[in-house]
Parts: sequence; structure tokens; C-alpha cells
Amino acid sequence: MQEKTYQTREFAQVLGISKTHLLRLEAEGKVPPARRVKRGKVEHRYYTVDDIRVFREKLGLPPLLDRRRTQLFLSFKGGTGKSSISSAYAYGLAELGLSVLAVDLDPQSHMTKCLGVETDQSTLSLFEILIEGEDINKAILKTSMPNLDMIPGTLRLSIIESRLLNKDMREFLLKSAFESLQNQYNVIVIDALPTITLLNKNAVLASDDLIVPVLADYLSYDGLGLLFHELARMEKSFAVYPGQKPGGLFESICIFVNQYKKNEIMARENLQSLLAHYKEYLCETRIPYNSKIAQSTAMGMPVLQYDPACQGSKMIRRLINEVFGFERS
Ligand SMILES: Nc1ncnc2c1ncn2[C@@H]1O[C@H](COP(=O)(O)OP(=O)(O)OP(=O)(O)O)[C@@H](O)[C@H]1O
Ligand SMILES: [Mg+2]
Repeated sequence: MQEKTYQTREFAQVLGISKTHLLRLEAEGKVPPARRVKRGKVEHRYYTVDDIRVFREKLGLPPLLDRRRTQLFLSFKGGTGKSSISSAYAYGLAELGLSVLAVDLDPQSHMTKCLGVETDQSTLSLFEILIEGEDINKAILKTSMPNLDMIPGTLRLSIIESRLLNKDMREFLLKSAFESLQNQYNVIVIDALPTITLLNKNAVLASDDLIVPVLADYLSYDGLGLLFHELARMEKSFAVYPGQKPGGLFESICIFVNQYKKNEIMARENLQSLLAHYKEYLCETRIPYNSKIAQSTAMGMPVLQYDPACQGSKMIRRLINEVFGFERS
């Protein structure tokens, strides 16, 4: 993957100001000048991810987040977009200058592939951390995005369930591993499998926010019922554990519709059912069906990098803004 750079308009957007404002600040010497590269005879202005922190400080802007948030992408229906959207979402957060850790729970390692991270026999995953007591900091790999790291998924995760069964505090191992992270990540984004497993329970108990991609079809709707039923059961059995939030397992729950085809009557009808039952959790942002998302998955890169301007990328950025309440377009 090529390293992310920003053109003037995009960089101004990330800072939440207009391009004109940014250029004026530069002319007045209030911010450092843009970096420049010559291609042929033309000189191009650009900025890097590292510039975001410097510029935010110069402009006296507060940090985007005041504490770390751990967010879990989970649904009990397969193929709803957990891996492809969560990896683009993590990339999009990193584009805003946040320091992000992506965590892949899946032995098929789709999130790992979507982020273009290569693994081999010696790659550590959550298996070595949770089962063999390996230091979590040693399992972290860099992506080509400077402030986006990841704990990859590997095939060894396929045998983690039976090994978790015999562990003490077996549902809290991930939570405690996250507590020993050395890097001060702003956001941890977890991609889960579509199953009720001990590993997923670990992820639920380690997360602040639940993000549920659903398709506007009957089976997704059915899967949501199952998910909420299971969460209610977990809430009951873990209510007595220390550190549990009084308001439930999560501080916030966001359901968003993915692969939405607004011209299809069935999709519109199913959306109405979702609104009738889950309105309080349902995001306004809908990710449309967008072939660029499928193509980016096949190319092993997040869609925000593959085609930053496509409708899918725009809507994923909008989803980030909605989930965090960031005010930017
Ligand atoms: N909005 C979209 N438009 C077009 N294709 C999409 C969209 N969202 C996801 N896809 C494609 O759908 C397929 C399934 O998505 P993905 O693998 O992200 O789902 P998942 O929920 O992680 O699946 P699983 O439950 O098996 O882990 C992928 O090929 C992906 O590229
Ligand atoms: Mg997946």
C-alpha cells in the first residue's frame, strides 16, 4: 500500500476548516507550509498524517477523542460487511489522525487481508496472546497507514475455542490484554465472526461500543433478534463481575444498513421493519451497494484507499462522523 497523503482540500476537511482558511493561515505563517513534491515541471502541495497532530496543536484544536474507545463489529448473520466495512472504518479513523488498532478475530483473516497485511507461520495472533500468554505488544503489526496498526488473524484462531474453555476468567482475557497495550491508541476496532463463541464474548466484554452491520433483508433482521437475545443473556450472567458498566454491556449500540439498494421494494420494506423495532439504535447513514467495496476487498485494501471518492467511501466516512458525533462533511 502506498503511504497516505492529503491534498489541500482534504487536509482542510480533516482539520474541520475550509481550504481558503487553511491557505490564509499558511500565508500568515500561522501554520507550517505544505510539503511539496515536483512531478515533471509541476510542483504539488501535500500533507501527511503526522502533519494533522502538528496543525491541530497550532490551531489550538482539542483532541478528537478524550479517551480510548473499543468498538466491536459483530452480527450473527454472515456476509453483512463486518470485515470489509470495519477495515475501511479503521482506515478512515486513522485518516482523521487518530491512532487506531485493528483486531482480527477471524481465522480466515479477512480484516487482515482487507488491510493488506501479510502473515506467515511466525505471525502472532490473539491465540498466542490469550492462550499462551504472549505479550500483546509483540503481536502488533504495522499497516502502510502510519497510525493504523493491527493484530492479525491467523489459522491458529480456529482452535482457540477449546483452549479458552479451560482458562480462568476465560471471558475477560481480551479485556485484560488490552489493558497492557503500551501504545496509547485512540480507537480499537475489532472484527468478529458471525457466531456465539467464547472469543466473541471476550470481544463483547472488552468493548465500549457495538457496531452491527445488517443487510436490508429478512435473515439479517432475524440475526439481529438472535444477537440481542444473546446479549441480554450475557448481560445477566456478567452483571455481577467487577468493572461492568451499569447501563448494560455497551455504552452505545449502532446498527447500520449495508449494501442498501434503495430502488428495491424489498429493501425499503425491510428497512421499515428495522426502523419499527430498532429505531433507537439505527444509524441514519446507510452504506449503499457499491461494487468498489467488493473490488477493494478482492484487491486487499480498504475501499477508502482503493477509491476514496466513491459513494461507498463517502458513506463510510459519514458513518464514522455519525458514530462519533464528529461535525464535518
Ligand atoms: N456495501 C457493499 N457493496 C458491495 N459489496 C459489499 C458491500 N459490503 C460488503 N461487500 C462485499 O460483501 C462480501 C462480504 O463482506 P464481508 O466479508 O465484509 O462480510 P462479513 O460480515 O465480514 O462476513 P463473515 O460473516 O463471513 O465474516 C465481501 O466480498 C465484500 O466485499
Ligand atoms: Mg468477516
